[in-house]
Amino acid sequence: MLGASYLTLRLSTSLPCARWAHGSSTLMATSLRSSSYSSPSSWTDTDDEGVRGTCEDASICKRFAVSIGYWHDPYIQHFVRLSKERKAPEINRGYFARVHGVSQLIKAFLQKTECHCQILNLGAGMDTTFWTLKDEDLLPRKYFEVDFPMIVTRKLHSIKIKPLLSKPIIELRSEDTLQMDGHTLDSKRYAIIGADLRDIPELEEKLKKCNMSTQLPTLLITECVLVYMTPEQSVNLIKWAANSFETAMFINYKQVNMDDRFGQIMIENLRRRQCDLAGVETCKSLELQKERLLSNGWETASAVDMMELYSRLPRSEVSRIESLEFLDEMELLKQLMQHYYCLCWATKGGSELGLNEITY
Ligand SMILES: C[S@@+](CC[C@H](N)C(=O)[O-])C[C@H]1O[C@@H](n2cnc3c(N)ncnc32)[C@H](O)[C@@H]1O
Repeated sequence: MLGASYLTLRLSTSLPCARWAHGSSTLMATSLRSSSYSSPSSWTDTDDEGVRGTCEDASICKRFAVSIGYWHDPYIQHFVRLSKERKAPEINRGYFARVHGVSQLIKAFLQKTECHCQILNLGAGMDTTFWTLKDEDLLPRKYFEVDFPMIVTRKLHSIKIKPLLSKPIIELRSEDTLQMDGHTLDSKRYAIIGADLRDIPELEEKLKKCNMSTQLPTLLITECVLVYMTPEQSVNLIKWAANSFETAMFINYKQVNMDDRFGQIMIENLRRRQCDLAGVETCKSLELQKERLLSNGWETASAVDMMELYSRLPRSEVSRIESLEFLDEMELLKQLMQHYYCLCWATKGGSELGLNEITY
C-alpha cells in the first residue's frame, strides 16, 4: 500500500490528478466562478474559457490513445491534432475504460429500444459516437449534441471541410432537413446545437427547434461535464432531464471518492495551485452520486468506480491493451482509478423495455 507522504510527493510532482482532471488551467478557471447562483447573462465568455479548454484536453487524450491502438476510431483524427507529448499509460488505460464503459451503456440502451429512441449528448465536445454508431448501423432516430457555441462552431468547421464527417450526415438527410448556421446544424438524424447547459430554458428551446421529441425513449449523456458546474446548476439539469421525458436513461461519467485521505491530499494539492472544482461537493462517494439522481426524479441509479469498471472489462481486451505499453506502477493505477472517476447511470420509466435491467 502506498503511504500518504509518497502520494503527496507523487501528486505534487507528477500531478496525475491534474492530468486526469484535464489540466490545471481548466481547474483554475473553474475556481474563479462563484459557487452561488448567478444568472446566465452574468456568465462571460472569459469565465468559461478554461471549461471549454477541457474539450481539447479530452479529445487530445482520446486521439493519442487511438493512435497507439487502444481502440478504433477513424474519426477523432479529423477533429483534433495528435499530441506531441506521449500520454502516460495509466491515462491511456483510464480513457480506454471510460470509452468502453460509456459505449457499452449506450449500446445496451439502443438494443433495449431497438434504436427507436433519441440520444442527447450534453457537453459532447469532439465526441465521435454519432459516426461510429452510423458505421455499426446502430443510429437512434435522432442524435443530438450540445456544447458551448464556440466549440460547436469549431466542430462544424471540421464537419464542413472533411467529407468523411459530412457524408454520413448528408446521406441521411431528407430534402428539406439540412439546416446550418454558425453554431447549429440540424438534419434528419443528427443535430449539433450551441447552447449553455446552465441555461435550461434556452437549451430546451433550441432542442425543440431541432425536433427533439418528449415522447421517444431518450438517452442523455454527460461525460466529464457536470463537475464544471455548481451543484445547483447540475441538479437543475438532472431534474430537467428526469421531468422532460417519460422514458429515459442518464449516463454520467465524473469524479468520485474525493472525501477520504487520498481525495483530500489531491484537493489540497490542487488548491495549492489555485485549482478547484466547482462541483467537487457532489463527488464524495458513489452513494452520493446515486442519491443525487434518485432524489431528483430518477427511479433507479447505479454506479461503479473506475477500478470496478476496469475489472469488468473483457479479459481479452485487458490483455490486448496491457500489452500495448509497459506500466510498472499497478498500485498507483489502482489508487488513481478508485479516486478519480466513476460511471453512473439512472433510468426512469421503460421497465417494459427492460431499461432498469441495464448494467455495465
Ligand atoms: C471534459 S470535456 C468532455 C467532452 C466530451 N464529453 C468527451 O468526453 O470527450 C467537457 C465538455 O463539456 C462542455 N461544457 C462544460 N460546461 C458546459 C456548459 N455549461 N454548456 C455547454 N457545454 C459545456 C465543454 O465545453 C467541453 O466540451
